[in-house]
Amino acid sequence: MKTKILMALKNADGYLSGQELCERFSVSRTAVWKVINQLKEEGYEVEAVRNRGYRLLSVSDVLSAEELKSRFDGHWFGKEVFYYDAIDSTNTQALRLAEEGAPHGSLVVAGTQTRGKGRRGRAWTSEPGSGAWMTILLRPDFPPAGASMLTLIMGMAVAAAAEELSGVHTQIKWPNDVVMNGKKICGILTELSAEPDYIHHVIIGAGTNVNTASFPEELTGRASSLYLESGRRFRLADVIERIGFLFEGYYGKFIVDGDLSGLVEEYNARLAGLGDKVRVLDPKGAFEGIARGINGKGELLVELADKSIANVYAGEVSVRGLNGYI
Ligand code: BTN
Repeated sequence: MKTKILMALKNADGYLSGQELCERFSVSRTAVWKVINQLKEEGYEVEAVRNRGYRLLSVSDVLSAEELKSRFDGHWFGKEVFYYDAIDSTNTQALRLAEEGAPHGSLVVAGTQTRGKGRRGRAWTSEPGSGAWMTILLRPDFPPAGASMLTLIMGMAVAAAAEELSGVHTQIKWPNDVVMNGKKICGILTELSAEPDYIHHVIIGAGTNVNTASFPEELTGRASSLYLESGRRFRLADVIERIGFLFEGYYGKFIVDGDLSGLVEEYNARLAGLGDKVRVLDPKGAFEGIARGINGKGELLVELADKSIANVYAGEVSVRGLNGYI
């Protein structure tokens, strides 16, 4: 009900009378009045004028299930929204929800994570209100080998959203990080539950530093936020909405094409270190070469000294630039 009334207020051109809301949603005037009060308590500015009705004056910086649901209405991304003020990890929670049968497109968002997970068993710091801590649950209909491409799609969605909102050029450090001015603003952690030839579910967690004002000393120079790079603060719901819509678009193209071939050009235009020397830390032995971009399977093409090309698969290796973090 709250989501429906919030959406009606957002979509209204001027005032919406209490009577109209009652009729539209078949509820009492008292029920409408209660919802309006709840919205006000959450920080929405709702004007109430006698004989005219209610009008939403401003959408405050509210992060709640209703706020997110109202933004993803009619989309498969965010088909179900699970919001928690605090949770151990949105990825861990998405895994639990997946096992309970949550549908494809379920979105899990938290205000803060008490046990945020990074890659390689590292912890991920997620201060309340400072970032978009989100996980999307997918139940794709393709073999497990395709799952690593989903990380790249999330990288594209975050990078494009961050650039659109902040105006700052944003790049992707293949395969998992999004960077601005050479510093990491987002990390992506994809977890897969699968049989050898069948995916049960994939969960893709993205942690974007949005309004973070400072980082611990050991991360200075390597980590940043949209705020630190652009000087502006952003509503977390706006960031999550943009990431979701863009993900939906890129994912749709990926499904139609059957691989990333239709996205390669855009991906490579954002690839940090394209044409630069990289060191590939392969468990079978490290090697160096020039990063030449990704192919339709999402593999990084690395040109070796003899001009041959090594296809680097995301799951197995880590790639380091020879100049600092990138
Ligand atoms: C990395 O760069 O190491 C990956 C970081 C991934 C962090 C995000 S925040 C939302 C989701 N929940 C988690 O516990 N981790 C991911």
